[in-house]
Amino acid sequence: VDEGAPSKTLESRTVDGLAKYIKEGHAKRIVVMTGAGISTSAGIPDFRSPNTGLYANLARLNLPYAEAVFDISFFRENPTPFYTLAHELYPGKYRPTVTHSFIRLLHEKGLLLKLFTQNIDCLEREAGVPDESIIEAHGSFARQSCIDCKSPYPQEELKKQIEAKTIPRCHKSSCHGLVKPEIVFFGEQLPSAFFDNIDVPTEADLCIVLGTSLQVQPFASLPGACKSGVPRVLINMERVGGLGSRSDDVLLLGDCDAGVRKLAKAIGWEDELEDLWAQT
Ligand code: APR
Repeated sequence: VDEGAPSKTLESRTVDGLAKYIKEGHAKRIVVMTGAGISTSAGIPDFRSPNTGLYANLARLNLPYAEAVFDISFFRENPTPFYTLAHELYPGKYRPTVTHSFIRLLHEKGLLLKLFTQNIDCLEREAGVPDESIIEAHGSFARQSCIDCKSPYPQEELKKQIEAKTIPRCHKSSCHGLVKPEIVFFGEQLPSAFFDNIDVPTEADLCIVLGTSLQVQPFASLPGACKSGVPRVLINMERVGGLGSRSDDVLLLGDCDAGVRKLAKAIGWEDELEDLWAQT
C-alpha cells in the first residue's frame, strides 16, 4: 500500500463523509446509474411503486399482466396499450428534475465518467448531460423503426400518429409492419452501446445509484461491477440491489431530489446546482 496515498475509503458512510471524499479529490471518475425514481418528481410515474407506479395503474389498458405493455410479442398482437401509454409519456412535456441537474453538474466539474440510465424519457439529455456520457440501456424515444424490416421511421410522423392516437405502420407497402420507438421491450436485446460500456464501472472511483429498484437485469448487475474499495452510494426511497452490503457502501434513503441537494450542500455546490436547475 502506498503510505503517502490519502485513505481511499470513506471517513464515514454519511453525506459528510461522502462530501469529504469528493472534496479531497478522491472521486474523479464517477459512474452514475439511474432509474424511473429520478423522474417521478417531474410528473412521470415510475413502474413499481405501489399505487403510484405505472404497473399498478395499467388496469385501464386491460393487459394480461402489467409488463405486457413493454413485451415485444404482446406488442405484435396488440400495439394499442403501448401507444396509449406513449401518448401520455412522450418526451417534451416534462422538465428535468434537480437530480438530473446534479448529474449535469458532475459533468460540468469533469467528474462524470459515464451515466447509465434505464429511463426512456430523455430528461438527462434535456438537463444538458452530453450524448457521449449517456448510455440509455433500455433505449429511448429518440429513434423509431419498423419491427419487421427495421426501416427507420420519421420522428415527426411518429409524433403526429401518437398525438392522433393512431398506430404507425411501415411506409414500405411490401412490409406494412408495426413501427416502434427504439425502447428495449422485454424479449429484446439491449443496445450494443450497453455491452460496449459494460466494463466502465470497473474504472470508476465512485458509484452513485439513483431512483431504481434494480429489479431488471442485466442493468441491475452494474453496481456489483465496481471494484472493492470504491464507495457505492444509493440515493433511493428504499434499500435495493444488495447495496449496503459492502463496508464502504453509503445509503442515503429517501427522496432523491432531497438527497442530491443535501450532498451538493455538503460539498459546497448548492448554489451551482440550483442555478443549473433554474436554467433547465
Ligand atoms: N426519490 C427516491 N426514490 C424514488 C423516488 C423518489 N422521488 N420515486 C421512486 N423512487 C424509487 C422507488 O422506491 C423504486 O425503488 O425508485 C425506484 C423505481 O423503481 P422502478 O419503478 O422499478 O423503476 P426502474 O428501477 O427504473 O425499473 C427498471 O423496469 O419496467 C422496466 O424497463 C423498465 O427501465 C425500467 C426497468
